[in-house]
Amino acid sequence: MGKGKLKRFAENQQFGHVFEPDYQSLIQKGFEWKGNWQSWFKQPGDITLELACGKGEYSLGLSARYPHRNFIGMDIKGARLWKGAKQVAEEQRGNVAFLRQRIHLIPHFLSPEDRVSDIWIVFPDPQPREGKEKKRLTSPAFLSRYRSFLPPEGKIHLKTDSRMLFEYTESVVAEQGLRVLERSENVYRDYGPDSELHIRTFYESMWLEMGRDIHYLCFEIGSDGL
Ligand SMILES: C[S@@+](CC[C@H](N)C(=O)[O-])C[C@H]1O[C@@H](n2cnc3c(N)ncnc32)[C@H](O)[C@@H]1O
Repeated sequence: MGKGKLKRFAENQQFGHVFEPDYQSLIQKGFEWKGNWQSWFKQPGDITLELACGKGEYSLGLSARYPHRNFIGMDIKGARLWKGAKQVAEEQRGNVAFLRQRIHLIPHFLSPEDRVSDIWIVFPDPQPREGKEKKRLTSPAFLSRYRSFLPPEGKIHLKTDSRMLFEYTESVVAEQGLRVLERSENVYRDYGPDSELHIRTFYESMWLEMGRDIHYLCFEIGSDGL
């Protein structure tokens, strides 16, 4: 492993706003801030969660726009997440935290008391192979996990270049009878520059350079068994 990565991992351990509990301690002891995030943040406020956050561009972009709200970015790759965490430390933003763990463990980190109002899923790996459907972050299995803490009117925002994942998500939403709030097959055609959808991530820049359209779907999470 390169020295750069090791330095980033070491810095992550020093940051008070980066949490990276190992699997064993998570299962055995639980996560200390689950149900208690409102007292961890410096201010009370609804939480927006960014999944597959990479360098955390959405958590940073939205936290600058909405300083009275709180944000949590989650990704398994510590060296990527460090980029956002470093900026939060340098700018002393009190409304952003990061979780380094696998997303299927998300119910161990959050509960309804935490006041999560919406989830951004930003350029997740599309997992195109049929056998990998359960790994898609908008599969029924993942929606069920999000419902363990997100209220039925909570929103999911999916931003993706993958036509397959976009259509797959639409089919899950239709099968479950969930309410679609917004839909775009080409964000940069349909939304003006002031839109949150113009916050651009690292992967998004690569897809745009390749001439791909960026898709967006926003829907209510609803309840299991609807
Ligand atoms: C294509 S990248 C997108 C990163 C960022 N959102 C962007 O747009 O630049 C997908 C990200 O999902 C993360 N990821 C994939 N599966 C994950 C999982 N099961 N748990 C946590 N992170 C995951 C990867 O580490 C990677 O950073």
